[in-house]
Amino acid sequence: MQFHRLLKRYVFCAAVTMLLVVTTESASAADLVISCGSVGQDYEVCKKLTSEWAAKTGNKVSLFSVPNSSTDMLALFRQQFAEKSSKVDVIMVDVVWTGGISDHLIDLSPYTKGIEKTHFPVIVANNTVNGKLIAMPWFVDAGVLYYRKDLLEKYKERIPVSWEEMAEIAERVQTAERKAGNKTMNGFVFQGKPYEGLTCDALEWVSSFKGGNIVEADGTISINNRQAAKALDVVASWVGKITPKDVSSFGEDEALGVFRNGDSVFMRNWSYAWSMSQKTDSKIKDKVGVTALPIGGARGQHTATLGGWQLAVSKYSKHPAEAVELMLYLTSQEVQKRRAIEASYVPTIPDLYSDADVIRVVPFFDSLYGVFAKAVARPSTATGAKYNEVSAAFWNATYATLTGKANGTDSVKKLESDLIRIRHGDKW
Ligand code: GLC
Repeated sequence: MQFHRLLKRYVFCAAVTMLLVVTTESASAADLVISCGSVGQDYEVCKKLTSEWAAKTGNKVSLFSVPNSSTDMLALFRQQFAEKSSKVDVIMVDVVWTGGISDHLIDLSPYTKGIEKTHFPVIVANNTVNGKLIAMPWFVDAGVLYYRKDLLEKYKERIPVSWEEMAEIAERVQTAERKAGNKTMNGFVFQGKPYEGLTCDALEWVSSFKGGNIVEADGTISINNRQAAKALDVVASWVGKITPKDVSSFGEDEALGVFRNGDSVFMRNWSYAWSMSQKTDSKIKDKVGVTALPIGGARGQHTATLGGWQLAVSKYSKHPAEAVELMLYLTSQEVQKRRAIEASYVPTIPDLYSDADVIRVVPFFDSLYGVFAKAVARPSTATGAKYNEVSAAFWNATYATLTGKANGTDSVKKLESDLIRIRHGDKW
């Protein structure tokens, strides 16, 4: 309702302005602020695209600078929402936030003319809360394993299928390289600091060992099981051996920094790391391969956590009409194609996966399509507004295991009681 009123007011003002100031086109232009990330090339790519849009439409767009951890970003927006702040008009929304912040975002469905039907239905469903489309899909993420093609060839190693195999290869190559004078070489890097990124990595480990999804779709707390405990113990055993101890302070960009510097055989990361590895300032340009994350144990499964970002318009924006226009432009097929080609952002529009221009630049979009299609969601739908607390309990339990403060069995047991307390009753 509030939006309709604002929109009416905007249309009226715009009409009056046009009548009175026919010659000054910019008189009705809006000054918009967008938050569009700070990991990898998020900032540069967004700056370029929004400047182009601004030049075309006569509006102004500035970028709101955000922390690079999804967890810190959410805390910042929660604070702004509490203050009903109009500081940011277009907001980049993590796939797991929608249930928790929907009250502060406008319903986009009256403005999209059904364009969301060209995006993956599962993401559109995720972004539809109480019948309202509160965010448009922008890009998808799924965890993948990056490896050094050149090093595997040099030591006649194969691409690992299981985590155990990965750890063995990592150890052999790391030892040989260090012996040859490459003292800073590591086996495997990932996201190990206590934040949302660790939840993503750890869900992949647990699920790859068939230890479930922390909380299942029906709300059951499933984490206290032997396979989950085993997965955490296996990963903890790598720290200090094939994984540097300071992984406990690594987010996406820190892990990528080590890998791009040529200092790790394997890395777990999202697809943006592909184009970053191929840049001219990367020491590993043309030396990188991408494959599915390994299976846990002989009977495990390949698992990738589903990630990704949406664009939404704040309910407190003073320029909702222009903000919607900018959001629609950035999420459009044309722009998603450019973002895929220029920075390997994975599109949310299935048609782009068979687009020859896209496949040429990011070949694994085609070969790993199955990984993206089967990616496992974090339990944000089942736990709704409590997801962030659930995730924090999970990443803390994982962190305790990785830093040697608890073993896997004790961690998942304690986590189960933490989750029961967070749930508080039968329903989430
Ligand atoms: C990526 C994913 C996002 C996830 C975050 C964790 O940005 O797209 O969904 O929450 O990483 O660090």
